Amino acid sequence: MPATSVIGAQWGDEGKGKIIDLIADRADVVVRFQGGANAGHTVIVGGKKHVFHLLPSGILHEGKLNVIGNGVVVDPEQLLAEIDEFAGDGIDLTGRLLVSGAAHVVMPYHKAIDRLQEGRKAGVVIGTTGRGIGPAYADKSLRSGLRVWDLVDEKRLRHKLHANVEDKNKRITALGGKPVGFEDVFRQAAEWSWKLAPLVADTGKLLRAALAEGRHVFFEGAQGVMLDIDHGTYPFVTSSNADSLGIAAGAGVPPRAIGRQLGVSKAYCTRVGEGPFPSELSGEIADRLREGGSEFGATTGRPRRCGWFDVPAARYAAALCGFDGLCITKLDVLSGLRHVGLVTAYEVDGRILEEWPGDTELVQRAKPVVETFPGWKEKLGEARRYDDLPPAARAFVDEICERVGVPWELISVGPAREATIVRDPA
Ligand code: GDP
Ligand code: IMO
Ligand code: MG
Repeated sequence: MPATSVIGAQWGDEGKGKIIDLIADRADVVVRFQGGANAGHTVIVGGKKHVFHLLPSGILHEGKLNVIGNGVVVDPEQLLAEIDEFAGDGIDLTGRLLVSGAAHVVMPYHKAIDRLQEGRKAGVVIGTTGRGIGPAYADKSLRSGLRVWDLVDEKRLRHKLHANVEDKNKRITALGGKPVGFEDVFRQAAEWSWKLAPLVADTGKLLRAALAEGRHVFFEGAQGVMLDIDHGTYPFVTSSNADSLGIAAGAGVPPRAIGRQLGVSKAYCTRVGEGPFPSELSGEIADRLREGGSEFGATTGRPRRCGWFDVPAARYAAALCGFDGLCITKLDVLSGLRHVGLVTAYEVDGRILEEWPGDTELVQRAKPVVETFPGWKEKLGEARRYDDLPPAARAFVDEICERVGVPWELISVGPAREATIVRDPA
């Protein structure tokens, strides 16, 4: 059985959580391989809303193994809060959640530094989620970070934490913040450590074995292609490989194991935080999309910037990841618009570009070339088959797929699990 990966094809929040939850009944294992608690994946089942930041979105399905891979930066406080939330509902995750010992730990000083850096007047402001993601990945690259294996070994923890607290306090003070106390951090970390210890494993080894046994492994991306540290709109990106290129390294599996790749795209576009967004709209249509799509961040509550579906950006994402199918979400949100738009090219310095420009400076100067198509009045929430969609909505989906060059696999018409059109329900 080939593996399946679900990857955000835009700037995050495409609806990856809903898609993973929907298709996880066919999985044996669901794996997060990058990012951290900056992710906010919403899953709505039986009218109850869950927002996962670190737990993989397959967790609502009993009998599936959920893995937090080595490429994730794990905030123990957040992870334990999510586990406790389940315990509060009488659901025990023992035996179906594992955390890689090689994953790096997000410590309180990472979050403090993230927020202080974002709050300063000089330098680039990214509009991060404040979850300590950049500082934790920076320590990983500097080879000074704490891994989960260090956290659950008291001697190693004391030794490594000591050096880190000393170093981080210099940075915190330089940024005008209040230094953290070593004993306070150590006590907190030791408490997390005994709670996390039973979940820690060599998850790469386990996943390689699962793949060799023909188990169906699903890889759940966080963020999206355009927020990827190497291939997104740098520096307005997150600090990991937020596309399928990060799977092998972040899960500890051979690249050829990655399998079928599904790219998730809204039928329009959103972005939270700073950075270029060529298809961005303002005014009445942007407000309609924001209100109609409840476009407010699942992690920070910030209003999301809204724009038309961006064809060159989607083509770039598809070429980079090699998408086999598209999951087009939030088509229902476009109902009631007289016209719906697609950005089909950009004008940059007087030239028309039909390809994603790559260089962020050019992306910043790109003006959208918009083609409009007839809208539709009908609400789509009850559609379960492609033929249930009004002709204009079908034509819009077809237009997207044809221009991106990838067929649709799923069309989502509402936040709930069942509000979905599946091309091949078998
Ligand atoms: P993720 O980070 O990619 O998992 O996406 P988020 O959960 O941050 O944001 C997607 C939002 O859209 C959530 O509030 C979902 O409940 C909601 N959603 C997902 N699919 C649909 C859809 O097809 N229609 C509507 N109206 N909402 C959707
Ligand atoms: P999911 O998985 C949307 C954005 C932040 C900021 C930039 C860097 O829910 O799609 P970071 O905290 O990662 O250093 O912030 O990336 N960002 C997201 N935007 N969805 C996300 O996750 C995001 N995670 C980070 O807004 O612009
Ligand atoms: Mg999200």
